[in-house]
Amino acid sequence: MEMNGVTKVWSVDNDVENQPSCAQIVDAARFLREGAVVAFPTETVYGLGANALSNEAVEKIFTAKGRPSDNPLIVHIGAWDQLSTVASEVPEKGKKLMEAFWPGPLTVILPKTDQVASLVTAGLDSVGVRMPDHPIALALIKEAGVPIAAPSANRSGRPSPTTAAHVLADLDGRVAGVVDGGATGVGVESTVIDVTQDPPMILRPGGITREQMEPVIGYVELDPSFQVGAAEAPRSPGMKYTHYAPEGEMWLVSGECEKVRGKMEDMLQQAKQHGQKTGVLATEETAPFWQSHASVDVVLVVGSQSDLEGVAQQLYAVLREFDDQEVQYIVGETFPRNGLGMAVMNRLEKAAGGRVLSV
Ligand code: TXA
Ligand code: MG
Repeated sequence: MEMNGVTKVWSVDNDVENQPSCAQIVDAARFLREGAVVAFPTETVYGLGANALSNEAVEKIFTAKGRPSDNPLIVHIGAWDQLSTVASEVPEKGKKLMEAFWPGPLTVILPKTDQVASLVTAGLDSVGVRMPDHPIALALIKEAGVPIAAPSANRSGRPSPTTAAHVLADLDGRVAGVVDGGATGVGVESTVIDVTQDPPMILRPGGITREQMEPVIGYVELDPSFQVGAAEAPRSPGMKYTHYAPEGEMWLVSGECEKVRGKMEDMLQQAKQHGQKTGVLATEETAPFWQSHASVDVVLVVGSQSDLEGVAQQLYAVLREFDDQEVQYIVGETFPRNGLGMAVMNRLEKAAGGRVLSV
């Protein structure tokens, strides 16, 4: 049985588009076709894939991850002709988005067909679909010949994996295999947008920004639950769970630069006095200050305030590193919410479990 089995690792060069039938892809695709669960790289994070048309296969994803069964999965397609297998209808604005951003980090919620396994959609009559922009993912899905349901390949609640090593840290022995294609590029998950309503609504901010979509389809709504302190329950089932969280207690502090620093110092000093191992999620700009600070044990740099793409790419690896170093109390700074900053701040707020202070 897979749960205590051996996880096979296929190492694949990132240029499989030049050799689409390479032996490892063929082998991994056979596992998928036979109903096993296989992790693979996408341009956002690693996914944990199974045949989206088979409840028996998809059930193994939920078991391996420890994922609540009311949280639906994204279906990945490798070619345009697979779209009609999973979606019964594509509204005009959905079409425009796909043409503009597929393959890419955008998941579009559409009315589902009967062929999609009921476990994939957690009983909803809609399905999230995306075509990932990664040569290995595309080659693997095409070779498998079926749409592939794939959530992020982490244990439920943990930060999403951006390397095969992260996948193995969470799922070794619990899944049939991992295709190792190196580190992923975008670093945060795809944007989830519901086009079954008009105007369409962003259910999860991600790799494609609101600023990129509005020139293509006009005004786009945001799930009201994103507003800080919002009382609304999120529309996307997955967004209500604690996610992306390090083991340590994490806090975010936002506000005017010097006040933020002062507040962070107070908090870290107190934690230190209570005997906790302390950490700061810093940027290149602030790291030198914290590195020489008596109250801080571990300083991890997530990138530069002026490069949100770099921050998105590093974010999950840094959150996992706090765990590896057994940091118990973490304080981080915040980022502007424009562009990719909306996704970065959404993940940080979840990692902090809502512990956000404004000074
Ligand atoms: O970048 C990504 O999207 C990665 C890679 C592997 O493709 N996948 C990913 O999947 O992040 P997952 O399962 O971790 O997140 C899927 C999100 C959840 O928040 C889920 O609730 C939402 O998409 N979702 C899926 N189907 C939905 C539906 N029919 N209606 C509303 N939300 C849906
Ligand atoms: Mg996930």
